[in-house]
Amino acid sequence: MPIKRQFAPRSVELPDIKLGRVEPQYTKVLMRLLSAHALAEKLTAEGYDRAAGLSVTDELRTVIEKNRAEERKHAGLVYHLLTELGVTEAAADRMMITARKSPSFEAPRRFAERARTELDLLMASLSLDVTGLIMIGINYKDSSYAPHCRAAEIILEEESDHESFAMEALSEAAEQFGPDSVNQALSEWLPAAVNFFGPPGSGFTYDCLRLGLKAKDNEELAELYLTVLGRKVEQLGLQMPTLTTQYPRALAQ
Ligand SMILES: [Fe+2]
Ligand SMILES: [Fe+2]
Repeated sequence: MPIKRQFAPRSVELPDIKLGRVEPQYTKVLMRLLSAHALAEKLTAEGYDRAAGLSVTDELRTVIEKNRAEERKHAGLVYHLLTELGVTEAAADRMMITARKSPSFEAPRRFAERARTELDLLMASLSLDVTGLIMIGINYKDSSYAPHCRAAEIILEEESDHESFAMEALSEAAEQFGPDSVNQALSEWLPAAVNFFGPPGSGFTYDCLRLGLKAKDNEELAELYLTVLGRKVEQLGLQMPTLTTQYPRALAQ
């Protein structure tokens, strides 16, 4: 049964929260959601910091520098929303200590901590920018919290560039590195990429849907991602790995 949405898109502004015009639960859920969004942007920026140390072509370096600066800006925008709510960056990150270690943050963690090659960079972009575009474009663009919508609009414009880069780079990678290496990299990264959407049907997502802070359940977005990416992968004659169906998803044996 669809969950009844209590707050329309863009219906809540900062003063509504400050003056206690919305239920305290709204603020609590919003803070947690923004903390997760901010951390995802920050870890992606750290991944691009790491990628800046790779030896790559000048053309690719320009893309890395552009994305790196934009991800920093995205993180800054979302942490700023938290500051307005009285939550510092450190306090927001503390809220995410457990989540950060969970499978839903494995892809950004992997990018920030372990990416080593150009192919890793591409896989990270497919795992973080393509997913990010879906999450932000579908869930946050019509959030009931108007300041989050406004930030999402700015972020979306830049994320759609990151997404095109990832999709184009995938075709080039197939030529440059050969289909076997790309298929192998896809099977290493895709489980983490899909888990980035988070667990299906969680109590937290239920609250987000009810309060109009998200529009779709994580699972629906994860499926959409697999469909969009699957189409591209197939077009290029590459192979999508088979994944298990339960969260956290893994490679099917
Ligand atoms: Fe971003
Ligand atoms: Fe991005």
